[in-house]
Amino acid sequence: MANYISDDKKKVTTHHLLEMKKQGEKISMLTSYDYTTATIVDQTGMDVILVGDSASNVMAGNATTLPITVDEMIVYGRAVARAAKRALVVIDMPFGSYQADPYDGVQAAVRMIKETGADALKLEGGEEFADVIRRIINAGIPVMGHLGLMPQSIHKYGTYGVRAKDDSEAEKLVRDAHLLEEAGCFALVLEKIPAALAARVAGELSIPVIGIGAGNGVDGQVLVVTDMLGMNDGFSPKFLRRYADLHSVMTEAISRYVHDVKTKDFPNEKEQY
Ligand code: KIV
Repeated sequence: MANYISDDKKKVTTHHLLEMKKQGEKISMLTSYDYTTATIVDQTGMDVILVGDSASNVMAGNATTLPITVDEMIVYGRAVARAAKRALVVIDMPFGSYQADPYDGVQAAVRMIKETGADALKLEGGEEFADVIRRIINAGIPVMGHLGLMPQSIHKYGTYGVRAKDDSEAEKLVRDAHLLEEAGCFALVLEKIPAALAARVAGELSIPVIGIGAGNGVDGQVLVVTDMLGMNDGFSPKFLRRYADLHSVMTEAISRYVHDVKTKDFPNEKEQY
């Protein structure tokens, strides 16, 4: 199938994503957190770049996504937005920036868009956060929802295991998905839920549903860039396909550099002024 965005220089918009769903064209989405990586990702024809709060883990080295702040997300988001000439840039609102008070949520949302130049925001949660999501959308900011495994609620779940395996959680997820569509979300991420449930949600909703660990019956896929490039040796959940082994490539290259410095091989005559 032809790429819906025929002119590669044309910026992807939320409207394009909706059209892609209608045309049956799958949506590609990948995280990035820095200018150099986002430049490469953007040049591949990626539809959406997510500045995920997974930055808390993979960039800042925290055990969870909870510690990352609005200020930190703005630094990552600004770098990625500068790099993305084509992809739609979505930034995660971090834990604590919208949960306490809808007014604070709108303030943080406006700041994140104003100070980064990103196109949209992503918020975790369903019914409980429909009010703040509506208000952010009313302020003119497109919002992507996020249901299923919601890492910002890790202490509530106590596990990163598959969500919505039982009927009552699955039914709540379906209700929440409809509610987010009604609230005006332009797309929805479903993380780590049974493939059949994700396919049902994608079939019932008219907005694009993008999965991570949610099977192939959804409208698009998202992965964390450092995971799919194999930079993190110890993380290999079932849903992850590794497209490279950068951990080995980088370890080998950097070890050679250490060796060359120690043995006085680097720099040689041609590498000096
Ligand atoms: O923070 C993130 O990277 C995400 C994706 C896993 C969807 O939310």
